[in-house]
Amino acid sequence: MQKFVITGGVPLSGEVRIAGAKNAVLKMMAAAVLTDQPCLLRNVPNISDVAILRELLSDIGFEVRRINGDALELHAVEATWPFVPLEAGVKMRASFILLGPMLARFGRVILPNPGGDRIGRRPVDLHVSALEQMGATIVYRNGYYFASAPEAGLHGAHIDFPTVTVMGTENAMMAATLAQGTTVLDNAALEPEVDDLIQMLGGMGARIERTADRRIEIDGVDALHGTEHRVLGDRLEAETFAIAAAVTGGSVKATGVDPSHLGAFLSVCDQMGIAYEADAAGSTLTVHGAANGGLRAVDVRTDPYPGFATDFQAPLSVLMTQAQGTSSIHETIFEDRLDHLLELVRMGARVELVDERHARITGPTQLHGAEVGIADLRAGATLILAALTAGGTSVISGIEHVDRGYEQIEAKLVALGARINRIEA
Ligand code: EPZ
Repeated sequence: MQKFVITGGVPLSGEVRIAGAKNAVLKMMAAAVLTDQPCLLRNVPNISDVAILRELLSDIGFEVRRINGDALELHAVEATWPFVPLEAGVKMRASFILLGPMLARFGRVILPNPGGDRIGRRPVDLHVSALEQMGATIVYRNGYYFASAPEAGLHGAHIDFPTVTVMGTENAMMAATLAQGTTVLDNAALEPEVDDLIQMLGGMGARIERTADRRIEIDGVDALHGTEHRVLGDRLEAETFAIAAAVTGGSVKATGVDPSHLGAFLSVCDQMGIAYEADAAGSTLTVHGAANGGLRAVDVRTDPYPGFATDFQAPLSVLMTQAQGTSSIHETIFEDRLDHLLELVRMGARVELVDERHARITGPTQLHGAEVGIADLRAGATLILAALTAGGTSVISGIEHVDRGYEQIEAKLVALGARINRIEA
């Protein structure tokens, strides 16, 4: 097992290139299944989730190859085995994004129940009901969903999601591109990654448009063609490095990301007194650390985009430990996404866990090094940020979770002056 050894207290400064967004590229790889023509994705991050999905697609029978450093060519000619094995589905929940594309193109697929992970139960009932409304038959048996489309193919439907679901929206809209007739999605997700996927699908010949804030309309076509698409920058990675600058008192310029995708985070920066320059035209965000503890406490509630992202709240909690006064977190999306706070307590944070969705953090507190363990991707980034903030040395285990969504995180941090290295334990 690998671990990070981090010695904190060093202000991080310099420039960091933000990679392509994990929560966009995985869906774009699935979108390539919708055509028998080759698709080329650029700005593909070198993360383990991409490697896992690449292997999954190859096992189904599709050609997937990396070109140069950051491009991926996918060619889904035929599906030899329309099947995703359980261990792959459990390893990466996002494999469920294959449901819509596989049903739309091949009419059948067997997918494992991705199950919950550390942040909550994470059911897929909204995905299943959306595809059933489009004519699919989906039976759950022995841990697998056996899904098939009618002989004549899927048909359009008016799907009104009771809860905003990012991947539910994406599964339904990808299936709708090849369905007969028109599909309307209401209460659809608004994340920038969803709009980037809409761009890619449009480039493949899909007739798809966001006609209102939470409404997406799709007119099915007979076939889609290949395309070349550049994956948008990862707003979650950018936010992680922005916080790294703020908590260590440095100054970091993140390039390759659209700062308008971090609107809710930047308004929290305004409330906390964190200085930044956002350059949408130049796709850069520069964040400056607060001079000796000049941070103000803040109350944050997570909401679907454009609200404050649930993925942002874990890293933000480190900033809260350094702010003057008592901050609060209200996690509305997932039922179990505050566990990382227990690890912060072991590093000296003053946290009151009110219940599984509410916490209060009082600062500023001087964090100290500790041996801590990572249980999920965003909690991992949080503990790295805490270790960079803490005086002394921390050892962080479970770093494979971080590798799932952050490309070469220690190399990027070292380039900013961090004292971090990866050891075989
Ligand atoms: C996506 O997950 C992201 N993952 C998550 O990022 C992100 O936290 C989440 O959206 C919310 O923004 C990817 O895009 C790969 P949801 P997703 O469906 O689509 C409930 C990360 O760290 N729900 O928007 O799976 C669900 O339980 C990951 O990169 C149902 O009840 O999330 C949750 O409470 C973590 N039934 C809420 O909806 C369903 O069928 C939102 O979940 C589907 C979801």
